[in-house]
Amino acid sequence: MYWTSYPVPALRGIVAAPPDKSCSHRAVILAGLATGTSEIHRLLEGEDVLRTVDAMRALGAGIEPSGPGHWKITGVGPRGLSSPERALDFGNSGTGSRLVMGALAGFPVTARLVGDESLTARPMNRILSPLRRMGLTDTAREDGRLPFTITGRARLRAISYEPPVASAQVKSAVLLAGLNAEGVTEVCEARATRDHTERMLRGFGVGVNTSSFGDTGRRIGLAGGQSPGALGTSIPGDPSSAAFLAGAALISPDGEVLVENVMSNSTRDGIFDALTLMGAALGAEEAFEASGERQINLLVSTSSGLRGREIPERLVPAMIDEFPILAVVAAFADGVTEVRGAGELRVKETDRIGAIVDMLRANGVSAEERPNGFVIEGCAGPPPGGGRVETRHDHRIAMSALVMGTASQNPVSVDDISMIATSYPDFMDHMSRLGADIRPA
Ligand code: S3P
Repeated sequence: MYWTSYPVPALRGIVAAPPDKSCSHRAVILAGLATGTSEIHRLLEGEDVLRTVDAMRALGAGIEPSGPGHWKITGVGPRGLSSPERALDFGNSGTGSRLVMGALAGFPVTARLVGDESLTARPMNRILSPLRRMGLTDTAREDGRLPFTITGRARLRAISYEPPVASAQVKSAVLLAGLNAEGVTEVCEARATRDHTERMLRGFGVGVNTSSFGDTGRRIGLAGGQSPGALGTSIPGDPSSAAFLAGAALISPDGEVLVENVMSNSTRDGIFDALTLMGAALGAEEAFEASGERQINLLVSTSSGLRGREIPERLVPAMIDEFPILAVVAAFADGVTEVRGAGELRVKETDRIGAIVDMLRANGVSAEERPNGFVIEGCAGPPPGGGRVETRHDHRIAMSALVMGTASQNPVSVDDISMIATSYPDFMDHMSRLGADIRPA
């Protein structure tokens, strides 16, 4: 069903950032492996994380909600994961499927993994190849696409791995497998990616060593034979979700939005650096830490002098999920915005380079694909709008297009909003509280 976002004169108010999706997946997986009962507060109850909850439950963890956003998880501990009776269905979730593959690899269990149309089209060889080197066996076809069955083993071989792509999911899968490997498992990344797995492993009592690797990278080492201990933790606010609210405030004719409790971590902050480069004035005040992560309250107001910019390649890993909303802001800016070195966008929930360019063109904005990025000619003000955007099972394309409609000359429609619930189930509610007018149409 089509939903339409109508232009509104102002977007103002205060909302709390929803809990971080990456941290939520990791908390469920590590608590599911731990010895004892963990209490997780502010878990993101989005569809993707609930798929990870189902998977860890099917693998033997005891997981029960004990209040809104509050979950008690009794890990399998030394008895280890057990083979599930049915296939593990990860729906739309790349993170859940890839991290659980790593967690499962170090146990003698067999599981069939399935996913939706979008997940089934995404590359899994990037996870299968290091895990095979460690001892995993599988029934995947050569293209490595789901569905397939994997079988772990009790004692994996530790490896030293340099991922060919900058991917926190690859790093995390290898480190999780490393928990049950003989020797020290090491991941050397040429460019640092989000570091929540390393931080959370430490939080669960697992020893992890990190050091620099080359000019921009990190080496992360973990000795096998360690098992996580239970803990109580609270999930920090998601900067990726906050970015939609920030983008909406920036382009609004009269925007002033305070997003509370946004995780501030240099491996996730690229979007805020890029927006600042484009001329956005972002305010930040310190908030309470959560789960060892710094949090800020982020204040974003209308920025009339937004300028197009070449986005520095060094920012790409730290803003890999934020290019759809960056593109919307770039459409309102004066001048050309160019993104390079972001070929990974081709293998997200959809080919995001194609989806971003189509979204903008459908709304009268001049945009072009490049093999590893895109170029946008800003409208120096509200773009025409009036388009119908195909979201292609991609939550972030849907949210970006709806944000665009709040300040374009004409309404913007999307063909589907159901996928938004995978990462930001309160998006519609938050946007309407700020003054957005989004309705079925
Ligand atoms: C994620 C890593 C990123 C990101 C995804 C979440 C994670 O994917 O795009 O939304 O939680 O580790 P890649 O590892 O493929 O870069």
